[in-house]
Amino acid sequence: MKIGKVGVLGTGQMGAGICQVAAAAGHEVLMADISLEVAQKSKDGIAKRLAKTVEKGKMTQADMDKIVSNLKPVSAIAELRDVDIAIEAATEQVGLKIELFKKLDEACKKEAILASNTSSISITLMAAATKRPSKVVGMHFMNPVPVMQLVEMIRGLQTDDQTFDDTVALAKAWGKTTTIAKDYPGFIVNRLLIPYLNEACSALMEGIGTVEDIDTSIKLGLNNPMGPFALADLIGLDTVLAISRVLHDGFNDPKYRPSALLVKYVEAGWLGRKTGRGFYTY
Ligand code: CAA
Repeated sequence: MKIGKVGVLGTGQMGAGICQVAAAAGHEVLMADISLEVAQKSKDGIAKRLAKTVEKGKMTQADMDKIVSNLKPVSAIAELRDVDIAIEAATEQVGLKIELFKKLDEACKKEAILASNTSSISITLMAAATKRPSKVVGMHFMNPVPVMQLVEMIRGLQTDDQTFDDTVALAKAWGKTTTIAKDYPGFIVNRLLIPYLNEACSALMEGIGTVEDIDTSIKLGLNNPMGPFALADLIGLDTVLAISRVLHDGFNDPKYRPSALLVKYVEAGWLGRKTGRGFYTY
């Protein structure tokens, strides 16, 4: 199927990144969130970031204007009726995602593909909440979406070959490299990443090193672009905790239990960059 119009549901940091990448690839992108104002604010944020790229001389004003004009904030999910693919990028909560998939299924035309950018939750479960389970697929983008090369592709038990092939082709057309993961909690990236971030929290709680020393050890010792705490702050500690819980519950294995320190930070509302405070202050 030729994918033209794209809908993105959830316009936070991941959703906005997906909107930007899709618009840059020439798609008309309908941006939906809890209100028109929220979607519009997300569009403004994208325009602001692109303006910086223009200032740096890395993009022309004309290219920026084209991308921005492809972005169309809408006031409700119902307005996604004629998109060819809707990509859900809401908060990592299973109940919410199931609810949103039911709504997308009602709103979107019957041929449309429904994709989720979930970082850990079962695609099979979300597919089962719709009347088109064979057309539901996982497209897991990495943060920051415009910069990161990878899209992890996940097929639910019900996903058909056409849907899977069409979405892999779409991710490639957007300049991304794809990998394929089976539909188990955390897929590939977060199965490995989240226990590492969680262990860093436990190491901090035990006083093995300071935030700075742990981050510097990993950054310089392993040549990673960021240490675990800088990365957790970028992802959002609430998201790290939510994924940790999906791994813990999904495998029913104590080795995935969330660190008490991570839980405490989330209780404090110290969620990372998005709240101005996490392991670092922004
Ligand atoms: N949106 C768009 N572009 C962004 C951006 C954002 N949020 N943040 C940075 N960039 C761009 C900058 O504009 C800059 O572009 P140019 O080179 O064209 O000027 C480029 O990225 C580099 O940015 P900076 O110079 O500001 O900073 P940096 O060199 O330190 O790079 C980084 C920042 C790209 C975030 C880098 O530190 C990095 O790659 N970190 C690791 C990120 C990572 O591991 N992401 C995966 C998270 S896990 C995940 O997403 C899965 C999950 O489900 C939890």
